[in-house]
Amino acid sequence: MAASEQTQSDYWNGDAGARWARHQATFDRVFAPLTERLFAGAALRPGDAVLDVGCGAGATALRAADIVGPSGRVTAADVSAPLLAVTARRAASRPPGGAPIVLVEADVQTHTFADAAFTHLISRFGIMFFDDSIAAFANLHRALRPEGRLTMLCWRAQAENAWIDHPFGLVRALLPEPEPTPFDAAGPFRFADPARLPGILAAAGFRDIALMPVDEPLVLGHSEAGDPREAAEAAANFALDLGPASRLVRDQTPEIRSRAHAIVLRDFAERVSNEAVRLGAACWLVTAVR
Ligand SMILES: C[S@@+](CC[C@H](N)C(=O)[O-])C[C@H]1O[C@@H](n2cnc3c(N)ncnc32)[C@H](O)[C@@H]1O
Repeated sequence: MAASEQTQSDYWNGDAGARWARHQATFDRVFAPLTERLFAGAALRPGDAVLDVGCGAGATALRAADIVGPSGRVTAADVSAPLLAVTARRAASRPPGGAPIVLVEADVQTHTFADAAFTHLISRFGIMFFDDSIAAFANLHRALRPEGRLTMLCWRAQAENAWIDHPFGLVRALLPEPEPTPFDAAGPFRFADPARLPGILAAAGFRDIALMPVDEPLVLGHSEAGDPREAAEAAANFALDLGPASRLVRDQTPEIRSRAHAIVLRDFAERVSNEAVRLGAACWLVTAVR
């Protein structure tokens, strides 16, 4: 099967899922300021019933379970078995006091959730990958109670996301021109244009739809020991092994990969400040009501 024909389920159950599962702690650390903004927007309360859409390795489901407590409940849904396995491990080893977490390994576009089962739907970057976004959000709309609220994060344009675009720019000169991404292809920047998602959510039945820009610097690498070289090395490894720029170099020759690493490392070494490399991230915080 050609890479372009790979389904999202194949993708998240294959290398991508394994990579996110292995490096869950790093992703959660890097995305921490964005996670704060998601939870500030969701304003969950004890007793709430939460559906985490595309929960991945579980950071947001676990946090939601802590907030809603034993009188609430959390359902963590994802199509990726390796990522849900990490969520299951983390859920099993948490201290007592949080809400029960139900894991659902399923495609949320079509999975039959109980009608009106949730007061809140949350997602950290789990909603840009649907085959049919309107049908998917209509399915999720049914799962929310009347007045139930949706709160999600998705990326703004790559050019506004220096944490992605800057390393991309540094290594692009070493590589052939990438294929253009088709309009509306599933992927991180699908909802970058703020005109797109509101129409989709409205067609799926949501109201009071709002997109708020969220801008935060992300720490791509840091050094506890205060060693700038270690911070730059960690940031270069994140950018080229885990972040979206990794797909540029993954299938290249070892020589190109090592040249890309050297270029990014040299650039990041000049950016270290307070023992860390920081680059900006730009998202939409999307809210809507059933
Ligand atoms: C970019 S990752 C984000 C994971 C997690 N929310 C986080 O922030 O760490 C996207 C997630 O969405 C999941 N996903 C993509 N399409 C899905 C679908 N149709 N149904 C359920 N999960 C899906 C993937 O398996 C993956 O875990």
